[in-house]
Parts: sequence; structure tokens; C-alpha cells
Amino acid sequence: MTKEKSKQQVLEELRKRKGEYVSGEELSRRLGLSRTAIWKHIKALRRDGYQISACTRRGYTLLCIPDRLYPEEVTAGLKTTWLGRPFYYYEEVGSTNQVAKDLAEQGAPHGAAVLAEGQTSGRGRLGRGWLSPAGKGIWLSLVLRPRVAPWQLPQLSLLAAVGVASAIKEITGLEVGIKWPNDILSRGKKLCGILTEMRAEVEITQYVILGIGLNVNLDIEDFTRDLWPLATSLKLELGWEVPRLPLLQSLLYHLEGWYQIWEKEGFVPVRESWKKASVTLGRLVKVEAGNEVYEGRAIDIDGEGRLLVEGADHTLRRFTYGE
Ligand code: BTN
Repeated sequence: MTKEKSKQQVLEELRKRKGEYVSGEELSRRLGLSRTAIWKHIKALRRDGYQISACTRRGYTLLCIPDRLYPEEVTAGLKTTWLGRPFYYYEEVGSTNQVAKDLAEQGAPHGAAVLAEGQTSGRGRLGRGWLSPAGKGIWLSLVLRPRVAPWQLPQLSLLAAVGVASAIKEITGLEVGIKWPNDILSRGKKLCGILTEMRAEVEITQYVILGIGLNVNLDIEDFTRDLWPLATSLKLELGWEVPRLPLLQSLLYHLEGWYQIWEKEGFVPVRESWKKASVTLGRLVKVEAGNEVYEGRAIDIDGEGRLLVEGADHTLRRFTYGE
């Protein structure tokens, strides 16, 4: 058995008996490891951020798990069937979307997830960057292989926004708004962005990478001067530090749920939910698509997820991309 595996087994035993002490002798008997090996694993777990109390004659007890999104912690309480499985975890990468793309090219299955504590060159929409300080957010990319034609894929980004909004509501109680197509806002500032990248041929979708950047515990000083007026985090909105682990588990759960609804019932229920949370509809908007700028009132999204904008001359235009 590898060292890592036996360390995880020690953790599992402590987790099962949380709130009580387990003696070194019992651990060593159960796991077939020497007392010295157990002690080494306890020290390694403490280095990973687990708070474990050691008490002579009573043994060890797990006091606190670290604020890390370790795969063992994430999968331990994950209620999904396929989303987030497998779960790839990194301390730091350039962009989780890039890692997920590489994995998808190598055949990663539908549902695989890539998460990093921090990104050094996080990617945003329209060629922008994405600020991703370590341990402060959920920087996540999902590999999806939907059995739909490429023209239906914009629906997936809207679905993702609905899933993120459901998870935020469940864990924090915060009602967020969705700005077309899939920015999540609180009091007009951006909390979460979604970047969808894909490989598709004319009729067939090979894979979609759904990249989600959720600002969880960023403080004001984490934002650059030009971002601060436009962006925020859950911590700044709520005034308390939000535990990332249950939020991530809830995010995967709600996304899987909405995805299944979409597969069975199509876009109608997703559209309804998106419209309820929308902060775009009914407002005057300026849409920049390619070199064009179009101004008008956002009146609806159609059955394919395109935004319908009515100009001053009452002409209707539909937009799939752009801002
Ligand atoms: C946007 O500009 O609104 C989209 C931002 C998407 C950021 C996320 S963070 C995880 C994933 N990896 C990336 O490089 N980008 C996405």
C-alpha cells in the first residue's frame, strides 16, 4: 500500500470516529500499520492542515479539517452520481480550463472535474483574465460530453448559471441575480463568471469545458483597483467567511440536477428558472457582438438561450454571444 493511501486510511478512521479519541494501538491493529507509521501519518496530516489532538493514553482525535478542497474531502460528502467523478485536484495551475481540455483530449469522461486552489493565468470571457487567488474561491472546470448539436450549447452556459445560483442560495441564503448570459451578480457586482469552451464539429459536440470562477472569500485587498468597483465575493456580501467545501459539493449537486432536468425535459424549465433570476430582462442594454454595438431593451431569451433585444425602431435582434 502506498504511503498516501495509508495516510488516507488513518484520516478515514479518525473521521468515522469524529468527537472521540481513537488509540494509536487500535489504529495500528485496524490498519495493519506500526505505531510509528501511524504517528508519521498524523504528523503528515497536520502538515496538510488537519487539526488532530494527540493525548497520552487516550490517542488521537480529529478536531478540524482544513479549508482545502482535497479530493478525499470533496468526494466523502458528495451527493452526485457522475458529476465531479473523477475529481482532479491541484494546488496551483495556469488555468483549470486548460487542464480540463487536455484531460478531455486524452479521453476524460463526462463529469470529470478539475479544481485548483489557485490559478496563475485564469481565463475569462472575451479574452480577459480571471483573478484567482489561492484558497479564496472555487476555480473549477467540468468536462461534459452532452449528446446535443453544437448550436444547443449556449443553453448549457445558462444552465450553469442557474445551478450556481441554486447552490449559493442553499448554502448562504443569498439571492443572486443572473446577467445574460451567465454572470452571477450581487447588488450589481460580479460574484461568479462562467467560461464555456468546446470542441465540436458541424453536427457533433465532442466535449464542453464549463469553467466556473466563484469568488468566495476574497477580501477587498485581493481585488485590483479597477476590478473592485465591478466585482465582489460572498464573504464581502455576507460579512462572514463561507465554507468552501459544502459550497462546492452543493454546486456539483445542483449542476448535476439541472443537467438531468435539461436532458429529460429540454430547455424549458432551465429557461424559466433563468428568467426568474435574471437582472437583464426589461432593462436597457448595450450588446457588443463582434465589431457591432447594439442598444435596446432586453425583452426575453428564446427557446435556444439567445437574448432578444428590441431597438428604438422596434426591430428585434437575437444575440448568442457578446455582452
Ligand atoms: C468570465 O469572464 O466571466 C468567465 C470567468 C471564468 C473563470 C473560471 S475560473 C475556473 C476556470 N478556469 C479558467 O481559466 N477560467 C474559468
